[in-house]
Amino acid sequence: MKKVLIDCDPGIDDALALALAAGSHDSLDVVGVTTVGGNVDLPLTTANALALREFLDLGDVPVTPGSAGALLRHTVRAADVHGVTGLGDVVLPAPLRSPSEGHAVDFIVDTLRAAPGEITLVAVGPLTNVALAVRREPRVVEWARDLVIMGGSYTRGNHNPAAEFNMLADPEAAAIVFDAGWTVKQLGLDVTLSAVVTMDVLDRMRPLGRLAELLVPASQSYKAVTAEGGPAIHDACAVAYVLDPSLFTCVPAVVNVETTGTYTRGMTVTDFGVGDRRANALVATSLDVKRFWDLAMGAYERLAVRLG
Ligand code: BDR
Ligand code: CA
Repeated sequence: MKKVLIDCDPGIDDALALALAAGSHDSLDVVGVTTVGGNVDLPLTTANALALREFLDLGDVPVTPGSAGALLRHTVRAADVHGVTGLGDVVLPAPLRSPSEGHAVDFIVDTLRAAPGEITLVAVGPLTNVALAVRREPRVVEWARDLVIMGGSYTRGNHNPAAEFNMLADPEAAAIVFDAGWTVKQLGLDVTLSAVVTMDVLDRMRPLGRLAELLVPASQSYKAVTAEGGPAIHDACAVAYVLDPSLFTCVPAVVNVETTGTYTRGMTVTDFGVGDRRANALVATSLDVKRFWDLAMGAYERLAVRLG
């Protein structure tokens, strides 16, 4: 059983990543969900995480709110992509339970400290909480079994030509995280843009009962549309990596986050010519799309049976 702590900003693809985790409960133990301001403001990302915890039957997994904004920068949001609520046209029942007391940064530090070497931190929003955790307690780098992120790219941006959204939303935090001493497992746009909800995938989602009430309108109202016509569910790639890293080809690299460029702020400058230097990242360069969807749909189908 792999243990994961998911730091997120739901967010439509964050929701689909949480659904993938919930449908994989035979092999994945979600020990906590922390929220960060990102796609929409923190109160909304937290409310969405709470609603998703109940809708996806995640049980008593604590949901702990974290940072409302970037370390230094003005707020960047993506409501144009995820809708004003963050979940597009999806309407979930209002959550009955409240968030946990305390702050996500403390939760991350305390949870990793309590189980050194056991828990993989999966970060699929701006890296503000993770950077603050590193600053507060540098040993989180040793305590984490792994850090898996959705963010960046070595070829392109999506929020602008140079930068991917999670990196652009808090470039200083991203720079702190890449410099912290661990080997970041990086699922960037280079692979996540191929995790597309095509018409075929959508047809496989339609019969999934209650779960379809999330998956289908989420996919249809998600504006992260690719050249293939459907949206890319970026964040689900990070959970898929934890479940089965062999879905991806990964290459060691030295990754630096641009924090000062006029046109390139948030760009992940990726050097695959590592030489004698320590690679601070293992960068995903390809995804086996068919096996990705087999894994994801298998999990969604199992979850659908549970949810009715
Ligand atoms: C990333 O940005 C957000 O809009 C998505 O939730 C995902 O984490 C993709 O660039
Ligand atoms: Ca996200």
